[in-house]
Amino acid sequence: MSHTHHNNALTLSELGQQVRLKGWVQKVRNLGGLVFIDLRDRHGITQLVVKPENPHYEAALKIKNEYVITIEGTVIERESKNKNLPTGDIEVDVSGLTVLSTAANPPLIIADQTDALEEVRLRYRYLDLRRPVMQRYMIMRHDITQAIRTALLNEGYYEFETPMLGKSTPEGARDYLVPSRLYPGQFYALPQSPQIYKQLFMVAGFEKYFQVARCFRDEDLRADRQPEFTQIDIEASFVDETDVQALVERVLSHTFKTVLKHELTMPFARMTYADAMRDYGTDKPDTRYDMLLKDYSALFAGCDIPLFKDKQAIKGLVLEAGATLTRKQIDQLTELVKKHHGEALAWLKYEGGALSGSLARFIDQTMQDKLGLKDGDILFVVPGSEADVAQSLGVLRETLARMFDLIPKDVYHVVWITDWPLLEYNEEDGRYYAKHHPFTAPADPDMLKHDPAQALAKAYDIVLNGHEIGGGSIRIHDQAIQKLMFKTLGLDDHEVKRRFGFFVDALKYGTPPHGGIALGLDRIVMLMTHTENIKDVVAFPKTQSAKDLMMQSPDSVDEDQLEALKIKVGE
Ligand code: AMO
Repeated sequence: MSHTHHNNALTLSELGQQVRLKGWVQKVRNLGGLVFIDLRDRHGITQLVVKPENPHYEAALKIKNEYVITIEGTVIERESKNKNLPTGDIEVDVSGLTVLSTAANPPLIIADQTDALEEVRLRYRYLDLRRPVMQRYMIMRHDITQAIRTALLNEGYYEFETPMLGKSTPEGARDYLVPSRLYPGQFYALPQSPQIYKQLFMVAGFEKYFQVARCFRDEDLRADRQPEFTQIDIEASFVDETDVQALVERVLSHTFKTVLKHELTMPFARMTYADAMRDYGTDKPDTRYDMLLKDYSALFAGCDIPLFKDKQAIKGLVLEAGATLTRKQIDQLTELVKKHHGEALAWLKYEGGALSGSLARFIDQTMQDKLGLKDGDILFVVPGSEADVAQSLGVLRETLARMFDLIPKDVYHVVWITDWPLLEYNEEDGRYYAKHHPFTAPADPDMLKHDPAQALAKAYDIVLNGHEIGGGSIRIHDQAIQKLMFKTLGLDDHEVKRRFGFFVDALKYGTPPHGGIALGLDRIVMLMTHTENIKDVVAFPKTQSAKDLMMQSPDSVDEDQLEALKIKVGE
């Protein structure tokens, strides 16, 4: 028989009622002859009491943590109430008790606070997922997915699936490959995204598509990256950038309102890629705090500072009240800057009316006035190439914001990053790569033809609190421009035909103008639950080194499986 209540439900209003509860044993205490059991389910905890005269008393004494039990009993008022629990005013006086399942001693504590190593948590993920905090994350993930789905369905979008066994898609990461048994030596590729399929839905005339899509990318993992992850993949016909952006704004605002009761400020802020790189040193700016990057090349132009000589860029930032940083800390920050390709980290403290630091001897009164440092401030300056200076200062800015606790809590800053370069030149390979992917429409096709380096794209990313939570574009729907794009990317006709022939072909049969976006669901959930790590919101995640510690995958396979695939594994 089913339970009458969940374990968060009973209060003084149910006093005297006969109830049946089920769940896991959180804790057993034997106090002065009375056995108290905390019974847990995904909703909460109810305290049970078994008195010595109870026929189940002996059985209750044998119960251990994580046993699954069902009890019957009467709701009674507690003597010492627990204000922190919704059920803290009552307990259930047990009259019937059945053990449904015993449990071995769990290798980690089933509670919000755990000192278990991540390795143990991942190995026993089903126990880790039993912890209330993980249950909240997973249920929130469900709520967010459903809210997004509802919003898209209300907008008239169709939900379709696309194949997992496909062909290499051009998102720029390494593919996960699946060998074919029927065609030895040939491989399917798992999708890095459903990009090509969703564009083909537009060619087919469906007009509005979305999918909660699994994607696979074999790339270096980070705190907000998993090798397999979920996108809310969206595509629509007859739209421009502002249509796609407005749709996403409606969908996200509905989601934040439904799940967090939070009103996002609409319309979302917008920033060009160039401005983001200039002011924040990154294409995913965290706009929750200031400390913007400034150009100091003019200020230092007249100084004979060897470090700054003939440098493409001399930029820096001022950390207010940062003069408390010690030499050791500044040394560590210098290492950080160098790790991110900054050539050096010059600094200047203004403290008690005096300047100190590696830049102090170069600063005269006029320069000091121009700098306008307040007492207690510190200025950091990095010389080097435009890109290296941006990258290293961007990382420095984020690190200082964390160190000095400058990031406001419980705020959501969303910003569209627009006007992306279409291409990126790779010096090593001596060729252009698509900044997004090769189906992204150029803002001006003539520019692509005559000055590809300067060509901008009809592309947009969406950034939430310094994380890229989505990216998309208006696509090329003209076969000639698509061909020009491939040519600019250095793909010859043969290569284009081999990799995307079917797709270029499709474009010639009447393709509507179309565009879309993919939102990173895992990242959105991570930010909405305020966790720092994407693994917390993925049920069965992989480690930083792409392993599943519970299943022990990847794993070797049987010899006969390899034989069937005609695969020989080298040493
Ligand atoms: P993009 O490559 O920008 O675009 O991916 C879209 C969003 O997916 C999320 N994301 C990831 N999340 C977790 N782990 C990863 N390894 C990972 N990689 C990406 C990010 C990102 O913004 N087909 C295009 C979309 C389009 O043009 O419509 C695409 O996949 O939040």
